[in-house]
Amino acid sequence: MRLTILGGGGFRVPLVYGALLGDHAEGRVTRVTLYDADPGRLAAMARVLADQAAAAGVPDAPEVIATKDLDEALRGADFVFSALRVGGLDGRATDERVALAEGVLGQETVGAGGIAYGLRTVPVAREIARRVARTAPGAWVINFTNPAGLVTEAMAEELGDRVIGICDSPVGLGRRIARLLGARPEEAWIDYVGLNHLGWVRGLHVGGRDELPRLLADTEALESFEEGRLFGAEWLQSLGAIPNEYLHYYYFNRETVRAYQEARQTRGAFLRDQQRAFYAEAERPGQRPGAALAAWDRTRAEREATYMAENRDAAGAGDREESDLESGGYEKVALALMRAIARDERATLILNVRNRSTLSVLDPQAVIEVPCLVDANGAHPVAVDPLPYHAVSLVSAVKGVEREVLAAAASGSRRDAVKAFALHPLVDSVAVARRLLDGYVQDHPGLSYLR
Ligand code: G6P
Ligand code: MN
Repeated sequence: MRLTILGGGGFRVPLVYGALLGDHAEGRVTRVTLYDADPGRLAAMARVLADQAAAAGVPDAPEVIATKDLDEALRGADFVFSALRVGGLDGRATDERVALAEGVLGQETVGAGGIAYGLRTVPVAREIARRVARTAPGAWVINFTNPAGLVTEAMAEELGDRVIGICDSPVGLGRRIARLLGARPEEAWIDYVGLNHLGWVRGLHVGGRDELPRLLADTEALESFEEGRLFGAEWLQSLGAIPNEYLHYYYFNRETVRAYQEARQTRGAFLRDQQRAFYAEAERPGQRPGAALAAWDRTRAEREATYMAENRDAAGAGDREESDLESGGYEKVALALMRAIARDERATLILNVRNRSTLSVLDPQAVIEVPCLVDANGAHPVAVDPLPYHAVSLVSAVKGVEREVLAAAASGSRRDAVKAFALHPLVDSVAVARRLLDGYVQDHPGLSYLR
């Protein structure tokens, strides 16, 4: 099987390759094609992957090919992972800076920052979807690019159900809850639904019993894990559900905006500097074997340890748990999905797919995040209980904003883009929305299409 990774010079590629190195089964991936516009990043990643293959010492390490030609990368691909960052981490830092100057959130997937990032990314994602449809019409596209739900929906206009979006936060959340309850994550049925970065665990069923109420009744246990410390046991008990960690930006908006404003550096600026140093090191000529992988691993560990640090500061939640630092979310979901499709090994995974009739408040084309049964025919969302009104209102408001982003990216109209910002629940004035758009258009070359 052939896998193509768009954004193949990206930092998380070794997670995927590492997982592939552990797969020796029939029908495994035998060739990985890395596509990236930046040859330096491609070369750095090729080195890290070569170090990984050498360290693994397996005879069947997937062959790695790097290319700057998109059609060449797509031709013959069975699976395409789309993991791009339009505007790079510089762009992410700008998204944050412009928003924070207006006193609103600039996170890459939530609020004003997510809209700016979406406006830059959707035209590129649509073009890639067209290229895939033309050059690799039989391929399955797995979208990692944030904002993942919105970008998947844009690609689905062209690719229909052959594009599936993934995110590791629902899996991580489910795993943490299962562990606390003494259940094996793979045996638990996690009742989760919403949009990407905007969902809730409403139940965790083991052997026909919902075990979540037992956790919700136990304040001490609740406050012993990441989401419990972020939101506080009392708020989780009030909700009767465990929200995705990204809902912290909604439920504690004022506090998170302040924490981000007071931070020495925003997340995007931190990652921009961190990665600049990593790529410079990995690209340096004459390094000893293993050096690129060691630099990557150090950088990854630091990235994991500082994930959502400002939110944890705002909540007084302290450091992350050791068990949350282990990687194994992102690439495991991607591989499990690929395996289920390629080998028709049925699996249940929480994925970003078109709604069909799952949530009655949304139309069938709306991409949602929901448990799906996956087999050779793709991902089929399962029926779920309805969301309570407070969740329905957030989900439909944010889906409304996503639709305005999709419309603005198609029309190129600044008026449509202002509407997207202004209608977001975390942007509190049309005047702010107008200034946000002006600021973003001024600082982002990728938004010059807006007139
Ligand atoms: C989580 C989110 C992803 C995000 C990742 C890295 O896994 O679900 O969408 O890309 O964290 O976040 P970071 O802030 O390190 O880029
Ligand atoms: Mn995510």
